[in-house]
Amino acid sequence: MPPQPEPTAGQTDWFIHDRFGLFIHWGIYSMAARHEWVKNREKIPDETYQKYFDHFNPDLYDPREWAQAAKDAGMKYFVVTTKHHDGFCLFDSRYTGYKATNTPAGRDLIAPMVEAFRGEGLRVGFYHSLIDWHHPEFPVDGLHPMRDNVEYREREKDRDIRQYAEYLHNQSRELLTNYGDVDILWYDFSYSGADYGWSKGKGKEDWQSEKLMKMVRELQPGIIVNDRLEIGGDLKTPEQYQPREWVKVDGKPVVWEACQTLNGSWGYDRDNLDWKPVDMLVRMLVDTVSKGGNLLLNVGPTARGTFDPRALETLKGIGDWMRLHDRSIYGCTQSDYPAPQDCRYTQNGNRLYLHLFAWPPFAIHLDGLAGKVKYAQLLNDASEIRIQKGAIGHGAGSDSAGDSTLTLRLPIQKPDVAVPVIELFLAE
Ligand code: GLC
Repeated sequence: MPPQPEPTAGQTDWFIHDRFGLFIHWGIYSMAARHEWVKNREKIPDETYQKYFDHFNPDLYDPREWAQAAKDAGMKYFVVTTKHHDGFCLFDSRYTGYKATNTPAGRDLIAPMVEAFRGEGLRVGFYHSLIDWHHPEFPVDGLHPMRDNVEYREREKDRDIRQYAEYLHNQSRELLTNYGDVDILWYDFSYSGADYGWSKGKGKEDWQSEKLMKMVRELQPGIIVNDRLEIGGDLKTPEQYQPREWVKVDGKPVVWEACQTLNGSWGYDRDNLDWKPVDMLVRMLVDTVSKGGNLLLNVGPTARGTFDPRALETLKGIGDWMRLHDRSIYGCTQSDYPAPQDCRYTQNGNRLYLHLFAWPPFAIHLDGLAGKVKYAQLLNDASEIRIQKGAIGHGAGSDSAGDSTLTLRLPIQKPDVAVPVIELFLAE
C-alpha cells in the first residue's frame, strides 16, 4: 500500500471507497445554454439577465430520472449547484428572493433532488458559490459582469463584503439544516491572489472562512468540505485536468477528487460539440483511481429539467463498463506495483487490476510479479488468462526478461469493452 492521507475532520472513508460521483451544474444560465459563466463572459447586466429568471420553467424536471441515470452509471454520490456565481438559488432561501421559488418553476428544486438521489442510495453533496454576481453587497471586482462599467463601479463602491459574508453564512446554515444529512459541501472559489489593478480578488478574509468552517462542522459533523475556502479542508479538487500522480500537499498525499466535464462546459452548452468519448471517460476514471483519487463527472441539465440525450448516452456507456468492471474501482486505490506502458493498476487487498489502455499482440509482461499471482482472468467475462514465468519466445524462466517477470498470454481479439481489465489474484 502506498502512503495514505492523514485523517482530517471530515469523514472520508465512504468517499474513498465509492470513488465516483455526479456533478450537476444547473441554474438559469442553462437557458442561455452557452456556459455557466455567460453573465461574466458577455458582461450581462442584471436587468438583461432577468429574462432567464422570468422564464425559468423546467417543466420536465423529474429528479428520479437523474438519480436513476447516475446510479446506472455506477455513481455513488452527487454534488449539485445550490447557487452558482450568478447568485441564482435553486433552493428556497429565506435570505433572498433570487431563487427558483419565485420563477415559473415555483418551488424549491433541491429538496426533491436530495430525496430522489438518497432514494437510490447516493450520498448528497452541495456545491455553493462563494462568488455572487447578483448580491447587492458583493463588491464589484475584476470577475464581476459589471467590471468594465466605470460608472457602475463608482456608484457601487461602498458595497460591504461583511454583509455579503453574513448572507453566505446564513445560506450555508440553511443548506446544512433544512435538507437532512449532507455528506459533502463544495464551496467555489477563492481568488485572493488576483490583482485587477483597480480591484483585488477575494479569499478567506472576505468569506470569514474559519468562522464559516466552524459552523459547518458544528451543523454536520463528519461532512466533507473541499479546499476552496482557502483554509485547507478535507478534499483537494483539481479541475479539468488529470494529475500525474497522487495529489500532495506539503509533500504528503491527501484525499482528492478530479472534477471533469463531458464537453468542457459545466452548465448546459448547446452548441459545444467537444464531447469526450466513453472510452476516454472510463480511462479518466481508471487513471484517477490508480492515483488514489475520486472522479466527479459533470452533467449540465437543460432548462427544461432534462439530461441532454448526448449526456445520457455517455452515462449509459460508462454504466455498461461499470456493470462488468466496478470491482476494479470501488474500494480500490493506487498499487505499489509499477504498471506497464499504456496500463494502469488499481488494487484492493490481494486483487490487483490491470487496465489495458492499448491492446498488445499475444502477451503482456508484468515486471516484479513472477511467483506472486495465483490466478488471472479477464474481468468482463471471467475467462482465464494463462500466466507463465518469463517472456514468451525465450523458454519459460530462462530468458532475458529476468526472473521477476510474469507473462500474461492475451487473446488476439480485444474484449469488446471500453477498457479491458485483467483481474490478478495475488498470493498474499
Ligand atoms: C470553477 C468555475 C465553475 C465551475 C467549477 C467546477 O471554479 O468557476 O464554473 O463550477 O469550477 O469545478
